Amino acid sequence: MQKLTITRPDDWHLHLRDGEALKAVLPHSARQFARAIVMPNLKPPIRSVADAAAYRDRILAAIPAGEKFEPLMTLYLTDNTNPEEIIAAKASKFVKAVKYYPAGATTNSDLGVTDIRKCDRIFATMQQEDMPLLLHGEVTNTEVDVFDREKVFIEKHLMPLISRFPKLRIVLEHITTSDAVQFVLNANSKIAATITPQHLLFSRNALFKGGLRPHFYCLPILKREKHRLALLQAATSGNPKFFLGTDSAPHGRHTKETSCGCAGCYSALHALELYAEAFESVNALDQLEGFASFYGPDFYQLPRNPDQVTLTKKTWRIPDEVPFTDVGLVPLRSGEEMTWQRI
Ligand code: NCD
Ligand code: ZN
Repeated sequence: MQKLTITRPDDWHLHLRDGEALKAVLPHSARQFARAIVMPNLKPPIRSVADAAAYRDRILAAIPAGEKFEPLMTLYLTDNTNPEEIIAAKASKFVKAVKYYPAGATTNSDLGVTDIRKCDRIFATMQQEDMPLLLHGEVTNTEVDVFDREKVFIEKHLMPLISRFPKLRIVLEHITTSDAVQFVLNANSKIAATITPQHLLFSRNALFKGGLRPHFYCLPILKREKHRLALLQAATSGNPKFFLGTDSAPHGRHTKETSCGCAGCYSALHALELYAEAFESVNALDQLEGFASFYGPDFYQLPRNPDQVTLTKKTWRIPDEVPFTDVGLVPLRSGEEMTWQRI
């Protein structure tokens, strides 16, 4: 295949940051995606509908002239979130989901939830309001091996949560293991998952190829090859429970290339091309449109996009760095060649 035209995709998990960083990265997402679920883990986080409205305005102001892009906002759940905030969020129409970060799990999660059971009152309201819950599905106990944190979260927290709230719509975000795939496949129709390009393309070997590779470090961390293959199988299976969410998470070069580097891969520049390569590797390009453009809006009960995007078979080199703030930003797989290009 030399050319692939699909319905314009959306990104169902994206970090846009704020200020100068937002202005630097937003054009990359807007070029490929019509809409994105925007993560609320700013400093301070987006905890109220008023915070989300102001952040949404800043995003809209940063869209390049002539481009269209719709930010779908989320609220950051804390131990102190009020049920009234959920009702106001639903009424706002522009807040589309609520994000659960276990306190300490990842970037800017220190104000996250300390014990998931503390949020049962909120989950009850969300279930009632049909407000989706987005989960960073990892436990934070330091005694649990970092490669097992997703699996343990599913067993210890997610299964009991679903028993308590069987009608709550949940997205298990950026899944990384065959355990998560199996869980989602067996779960009820309210449960879906997003999958990133890096987890479809790389196993944990990428972190150590010829030396330590900080630009492949994200959370949840890359896993064994058998898990990558299970994710690839799920993403290309045509099952609408699995859809696109890049988790593109920009961090300036110096905060990644340091003695204690930040977690996050930057893929907004070339996300669709990365997914196309992953799908092509198992001869499943015909499944890309469903994964990238149909199942996400279907889950969120939004219309599918009316326009299209085209990828052509063309080799190009991913830049070593793109402009960011006062420092550069290193895209995922920088310096390497891609075989698909968005035109
Ligand atoms: C994200 C970030 O940098 O905000 N990092 C990451 O590794 N994915 C946070 C997150 O989604 O865990
Ligand atoms: Zn994320």
